[in-house]
Amino acid sequence: MVSEKDIEHAVAVLKSGGLVAFPTETVYGLGADASNADAVAKIFAVKGRPASHPLIVHLADGVQVANWAREVPEAAMKLARKFWPGPLTLILRRAREVSDAVTGGQDTVALRVPSHPVALQLLGGFGGGIAAPSANRHGRVSATTAEHVRREFGEAIECVLDGGETDVGIESTIVDLSGTAPALVRPGWIGPAELQRVLGMPLAAPAGDAPRAPGTLAKHYAPQTPLIVMEFDLLMELAATLTRLGKRVAALAMTDRRPVHEGLTWITAPSEPAAYAHTLYANLRELDEAGCEMILVERPPQSADWMAINDRLTRAAAGSAAQDDT
Ligand code: TXA
Ligand code: MG
Repeated sequence: MVSEKDIEHAVAVLKSGGLVAFPTETVYGLGADASNADAVAKIFAVKGRPASHPLIVHLADGVQVANWAREVPEAAMKLARKFWPGPLTLILRRAREVSDAVTGGQDTVALRVPSHPVALQLLGGFGGGIAAPSANRHGRVSATTAEHVRREFGEAIECVLDGGETDVGIESTIVDLSGTAPALVRPGWIGPAELQRVLGMPLAAPAGDAPRAPGTLAKHYAPQTPLIVMEFDLLMELAATLTRLGKRVAALAMTDRRPVHEGLTWITAPSEPAAYAHTLYANLRELDEAGCEMILVERPPQSADWMAINDRLTRAAAGSAAQDDT
């Protein structure tokens, strides 16, 4: 799917200050040379993202952390050793040279070594850090295929590396290690129990005055169609009532009991969290594009292994209810 020549071309684009969309094991990223402020500015322009929202710097290996962080606490070393390359982002105190364009002017920087082979080939060929947010327009559902990236941005991105469907399907877990105690900033596939086991200490909830992280804004990851999360019984009732009134309704349910109603678009989602996460954004996109007035989502279990998924659904519901400033 991605040849050596494609990687060479992508590296050349990055070196000349252009944008490259590339697969990671979580979602697709929209990358630029992290040491080139003008290149990083293009990311914000293309995404429509406020300049104060910081980006993750992707690295080829943990050794490069020393170029970006001025302090690497023992807790960060433990997490990096265990989970890199992988779907974990660490927030550390930044090195002086790191551009404000990347950090949004904050004293910290977010770093991650992804595990997707194409991401690692690109990072290896490029040699430096690649600043990359998820490859979607600001506030929208992240892209898990190259096709979704192209549909988001059209011709605005010079180079899209197609590494197929991403594996995890939701964004990386973010842990802040710049303060006195490690804090979970964004839940992801690596859960709090696993992190705490490796850290050997409890994770603090994020501080109230923590730097703003767009992925942590209440409304984010939102489809355009209003989305509501509810119990299955209520979903069935609403689907029946609304379609009887002639409305088009979309549903994402885990319970495999699809009713027959005119105007109902239905996806039965996997009932196991890894598979659910893997398909979540593609399912939301498909339902969003079905031309319905509403997306009804069956509430997943509230247990720890569903935490990151419930987090994204809650934000999708909040985002679709108020789209004025996404
Ligand atoms: O899985 C992922 O993390 C994907 C792939 C492409 O790596 N990237 C991603 O980037 O989700 P983005 O920009 O959509 O989300 C990055 C999150 C944002 O919530 C951002 O605010 C937060 O990381 N962040 C970055 N630097 C930060 C910092 N210094 N302090 C606090 N939060 C930070
Ligand atoms: Mg994002």
